[in-house]
Amino acid sequence: MATALIILGAGMGTRMNSDRPKVLHDIAGAPMLVHAMKAGGALDPARTVIVAGHGADAVARAAQDYDPDAVIVLQDEQLGTAHAVAQARDALAGFDGDAIVLYGDTPFITPETLAAMAAARLTHDIVVLGFDATDPARYGRLILKDDQLDRIVEFKDATADERAVTLCNSGVVAANAATLFALIDKVNNDNAAGEYYLTDIVGIARAQGLRATVVQCDEAETRGINSRAELAMAEAQFQARARSTAQDDGVTLTAPETVFFAHDTVIGRDSIIAPNVVFGPGVTVESGATILAFSHLEGCHVSRGAVVGPFARLRPGAELAEGVKVGNFVEIKNAQIAEGAKVNHLTYIGDADIGARTNIGAGTITCNYDGVFKHKTVIGADAFIGSNTMLVAPVSVGDSAMTGSGSVITSDVPAGDLAIGRARQVNKPGLARRLIQKLRDLKARKG
Ligand code: UD1
Ligand code: CA
Repeated sequence: MATALIILGAGMGTRMNSDRPKVLHDIAGAPMLVHAMKAGGALDPARTVIVAGHGADAVARAAQDYDPDAVIVLQDEQLGTAHAVAQARDALAGFDGDAIVLYGDTPFITPETLAAMAAARLTHDIVVLGFDATDPARYGRLILKDDQLDRIVEFKDATADERAVTLCNSGVVAANAATLFALIDKVNNDNAAGEYYLTDIVGIARAQGLRATVVQCDEAETRGINSRAELAMAEAQFQARARSTAQDDGVTLTAPETVFFAHDTVIGRDSIIAPNVVFGPGVTVESGATILAFSHLEGCHVSRGAVVGPFARLRPGAELAEGVKVGNFVEIKNAQIAEGAKVNHLTYIGDADIGARTNIGAGTITCNYDGVFKHKTVIGADAFIGSNTMLVAPVSVGDSAMTGSGSVITSDVPAGDLAIGRARQVNKPGLARRLIQKLRDLKARKG
């Protein structure tokens, strides 16, 4: 059956104490809204509708950055969760299938849970995702009766007996889209909060003889994020899961609790990740690579058998071919490093192509930026770049060419040539000894 996602994200998120809309705060390098979209992606949705309010423009940009087909609808005034879902009605006009409501601030719903909800939909008109809360606090309570979910009562409206129920509402609900909107039409705001509660659709549906049920998941899966402390807990939860997934995938993490993954990090089998490595978004590390301690990688590709670090920084567009070595205090950005090349110490390589087996000496810098434009450096295969070479781009160094250490290379070096671009050395015989004696004599006279 076709599925449409409706993701609620209009709320202000007052407790975040932020200028940024709550759903745009990052977990593992992606806004929590994108995590919710990714989670919903398990249902292979035909349509995705995001209900935005506070900071809607920024929310729209983030959503469409991830999925250009996502439709953003506005909820100008936040009158409650039913009112929020109602804003998706026009965007889903003519849609024949199921709608599933997710929250933009509840990022970790698993594909298994969504599959269980889809299965329950075969026998029930409304499926609500619930969990057994260790501290039910202010969640809505799921009230069961005769094998059915009978109604949901919000904490504010609940009696003492109802508050004693620990089966709570996650907020995730699935129903046929037309049925959902028809039920929402009947919701009023006659309650303690004066809001249009989406949760009221269950009682209304039961009164019409429709069937409703609960699918249960782990509490951790449905934990919402309302504060910076909860954001940090969600980050920790994500990292714990990412670390154990990496280990299950055959990756060695020497000190797992010190390695931080992004939402999309991919690491191949038999790779070794040393302590204190941080992955930003967009990193792929192939099998058998080694990332040594204190390295930071983002938007890059590390091929089989490459060794990176310790203390290396790979920035977006860094492409390391097989067996490449990138050593300590090296930064690489937007550069292809071909097979077996070595960039071992204290170097900046930006906007460059480095040929196979080429050796880049310590302290080499591609001077890629003239203050306005970026320029490219191209170095061939089997070249040898002497230590402390400044490559003033645009510039090229041919195959098997060399540069003398300390050179400032401003014009192209043909293949096989040796370029030296620095002042010639002059030795003054005995001058050092005479100079130091003179200075000592001066000091002695002054006392
Ligand atoms: C809601 C549920 C409650 C459930 C809890 C789980 C209702 C009435 N209550 O309560 O049963 O236990 O979630 O966390 O549904 N939003 C909008 N527009 C609005 C109102 C809310 O987009 O007008 C969005 C918020 O941004 C948020 C989500 O909907 O992402 C939930 O809203 P929130 O106000 O946090 O609902 P709760 O009171 O927590
Ligand atoms: Ca909430």
